[in-house]
Amino acid sequence: MPENLRAFVAALPKVELHVHLVGSASMRTVTRLARRHPDAGVPADPAVLRRFYTFRDFDHFLTVYWAVQALLRSAADIHELVVGLARDLAAQNCRYAEVTVTPYNHLLDGLPGDDLLAGLASGRAAAAAEHGVELAWCFDIPGEKGPVAGRETLVFALRNRPEGLVSLGLGGPEVGVGRAQFAPFFTAAREAGLHSVPHAGETSGPATVWSAVHDLGAERIGHGTSSAADPRLLAHLAEHRIALEVCPTSNVRTRQVESLAAHPIRRLLDHGVPVTLNTDDPPMFGATLNGEYLAVAETLGLRRAEVAQLARNAVHASFAEDTRKQALLAQLGGVA
Ligand code: ADE
Ligand code: ZN
Repeated sequence: MPENLRAFVAALPKVELHVHLVGSASMRTVTRLARRHPDAGVPADPAVLRRFYTFRDFDHFLTVYWAVQALLRSAADIHELVVGLARDLAAQNCRYAEVTVTPYNHLLDGLPGDDLLAGLASGRAAAAAEHGVELAWCFDIPGEKGPVAGRETLVFALRNRPEGLVSLGLGGPEVGVGRAQFAPFFTAAREAGLHSVPHAGETSGPATVWSAVHDLGAERIGHGTSSAADPRLLAHLAEHRIALEVCPTSNVRTRQVESLAAHPIRRLLDHGVPVTLNTDDPPMFGATLNGEYLAVAETLGLRRAEVAQLARNAVHASFAEDTRKQALLAQLGGVA
């Protein structure tokens, strides 16, 4: 890897649009929490934890993810995760991120809603004060729990409406979890001023992405990888500027694509789809934001201007205030 490309990527001001709070927990935080809660079945030894993070398939990944999620039991745990994420983002030269939180699952795991909100609020304030990182929230529905989770997530979001909340999401498995059943919750969220950002086309075909667009009014798509199989869908995403939150390393590690070289990102770009690069669940996948940019630049043989365009795409696709977007674009202009 040419050293100058590495330096160029590191210097690029970047925006992260697809990172899950639970999945952002550092190895150190997870091993510490695992020691405190040995009943959760998460290894407290770093070497064993690394093996625990080797995923056979997507369902196995989710099982591991849910075990880590169950370690979070207090406002202090949430605060630590949020501040840790901000520290890691700052180290990637990323000063704005939209972070996915799944309130319904935390409530089921016994974390009181007020504690979740307190940890998010104090963590967000510390992220700005200590690391100069602005965090926005996406509250997402765990799809596998069905419409009841949709209703509860919407009510929790709108009743509490924490500072920084910008969107409603939909995560978890896609196979057997149709997007359309969540339409009423996305309609209500959009009417209340929240953006629509469901996962789709990560673990199922382009029909799921179409449904996310038509039934949920998706403004961005989490992953959207399988859109590559449908030229009409690619044209639709490009025409309507519906950005894809592409997470290449995640797709390899959950075995949705065989390798980075086999990832359809080139095809997405060639069809004019607004592509953004993201990490999803960084320590679980051994991913960093700089690493994603570098790997894609290398694999696709991108020129610097094309790498910078990926960073610009993320600014444009973000739900940041206009002043923040302009500042980020100006910083990007100073580098590339
Ligand atoms: N929850 C955490 N990571 C996820 C992913 N990549 N897809 C769906 N749900 C998730
Ligand atoms: Zn995700």
